[in-house]
Amino acid sequence: KVTGNRNPIQTVKSRIKSPDSIAKKLEKKHIPVTFDGMIENLHDIAGVRVICPYIADIYTVRDILLKQPDLTLLEEHDYIENPKESGYRSLHIVVSIPVYLTDSVQNVKVEIQLRTIAMDFWASLEHELHYKNEAKVPDSIRRELFRVAETIAMTDREMQEIALELRELE
Ligand code: GTP
Ligand code: MG
Repeated sequence: KVTGNRNPIQTVKSRIKSPDSIAKKLEKKHIPVTFDGMIENLHDIAGVRVICPYIADIYTVRDILLKQPDLTLLEEHDYIENPKESGYRSLHIVVSIPVYLTDSVQNVKVEIQLRTIAMDFWASLEHELHYKNEAKVPDSIRRELFRVAETIAMTDREMQEIALELRELE
């Protein structure tokens, strides 16, 4: 805002993984359900989701974030360039950030998911599949969702182009 540019962020959501789902995830990965097991193996205990209007905004926010000197980039997965088999698209980064306690500093990992409004819309519906019995979800639904993901990706690119053309008129 200070730079006079438009805000590249629409919404920010954050969540802390519940002890229950931490234990479940550790068990699923055959990792001991202990404090060390959790700290060493999970990077999404703290999760932030950044929702942007346009695809270019995602990379703008990423670049601004990574310029912060106290933040260390641990992992980056670009599922926009390389979508998942399901059709899922988002930019994932895992960072480490120091949290200052009264007498110590803890480096905390945070998984940040950056996506457009349309990608978020898609992911929220597709996410419901994961709560259903594997056998109950017909392949036709998966195929349909995949196809819609492709349509959404095309729409995102078109919206981006129109937005850029409009800005040229200013
Ligand atoms: P995790 O064990 O869950 O961390 O999987 P991973 O190591 O393959 O991590 P990845 O970065 O691929 O995905 C982590 C998170 O991204 C998930 O917990 C979801 O929030 C989201 N995600 C990844 N793939 C999909 C997908 O196909 N559909 C949806 N709706 N969300 C996804
Ligand atoms: Mg992961």
